[in-house]
Amino acid sequence: MHPKKRIAVVPGDGIGQEVVFQAVEVIEASAAPVELTHFDWGAERYLTDGVTVPPDAFTMLARDFDAILVGAIGDPRVPSNIHAKEILLGMRFKMDLYANVRPVRLLDAALCPLKNVEPGDVDFVVIRENTEGVYVDVGGCFKPGTPDEVAVQEDVNTRKGVERIIRYTFEYCERHTKQDGAPRHRVLMADKSNVLTYAHGLWQRVFKEVSGEYPQIKAEHMYVDALCLQMVRDPRSLDVIVTNNMFGDIITDLAAALQGGLGMASSGNIHPGKTAMFEPVHGSAPPIAGKNIANPFGAILTSAMMLDHLGMAKEAAKIDDAVLQAVRQKKTTQDVGGSLGTREAGEWIANAVSRG
Ligand code: NAD
Ligand code: IPM
Ligand code: MN
Repeated sequence: MHPKKRIAVVPGDGIGQEVVFQAVEVIEASAAPVELTHFDWGAERYLTDGVTVPPDAFTMLARDFDAILVGAIGDPRVPSNIHAKEILLGMRFKMDLYANVRPVRLLDAALCPLKNVEPGDVDFVVIRENTEGVYVDVGGCFKPGTPDEVAVQEDVNTRKGVERIIRYTFEYCERHTKQDGAPRHRVLMADKSNVLTYAHGLWQRVFKEVSGEYPQIKAEHMYVDALCLQMVRDPRSLDVIVTNNMFGDIITDLAAALQGGLGMASSGNIHPGKTAMFEPVHGSAPPIAGKNIANPFGAILTSAMMLDHLGMAKEAAKIDDAVLQAVRQKKTTQDVGGSLGTREAGEWIANAVSRG
């Protein structure tokens, strides 16, 4: 067996490069036994030689790496977004990383736009189906460019895909605790089965079946629109949420706001037993790129999540703790109330981690 865990690093575009640079410094400061290999996939490479991801890249990643750390992909010079589709969605789909795990954790009351909320009040997880739904790119246009144009985008939900993400969520609930150590014990499915009767009717039937196998976990349901209201009005009531690909995308930006914004939100794309991919929830934020103002904490917390996944719980906890201290002491970028730049905030964490 390889003595060190092997990590592929894909900084990507815009602020992705800046935040991943800081995340890498922090991983190194943690002394985690890892070997990092950088890949230049992103807009610049695509504009230079037309390559989004080289042929066989996904087979190579699955074979040669234990995990992948991605920054963000997206650049106004590539309006078709083809490279993001092929790199990011390529990893999710072609490596079959069916569970997109997005923890929602408030580190300090000052970061939350809601009134009278303490950190422990916002501590839930969204598990987003990551390989199906409207993201499958099935559809087409009929009579394009004419007044009679028709655009169809299919929503694909398979029995196998729905079952495995729901089962993953119950297993996740069983194995994880809240920040304060209390057990997680509720799974809530969010859908629109009142309207999408075929697609989400399938989710309903599978949820009933699978939840029956976990009698110790309370199974709950909400329509996704009602869940959005609930997330803002009473985030304390939420524990583990499972939902489809697109709803998961949308509600995790809303959930990011509860944690202090997109700069604080982390995620992992997982298929148990396979090479997993980790990325902050935010994008490449072109307007703030290159200005040393992007918040690196989402990427740094994402690295901690990756190390934890690789069995390095101690290093992950050190990083999580350093971010918590930084937030409490306002050693942060401006978006979360501090006055540091991307580099300075990252260095503060790296120093705290190497001391800790
Ligand atoms: P975005 O996440 O890049 O930005 C949304 C808003 O949040 C902007 O106001 C931005 O300044 C702010 N923001 C984001 N990350 C921040 C950080 N770390 N620190 C401080 N502020 C931050 O979303 P967008 O503007 O909709 O998309 C920009 C590009 O990124 C698009 O090309 C999009 O497709 C792509 N994108 C990529 C990913 C990914 O690679 N995982 C995710 C989302 C969007
Ligand atoms: C995310 C992003 C991606 C998504 C885009 C960039 C394809 O918004 O990871 O949340 O829609 O999944
Ligand atoms: Mn998104």
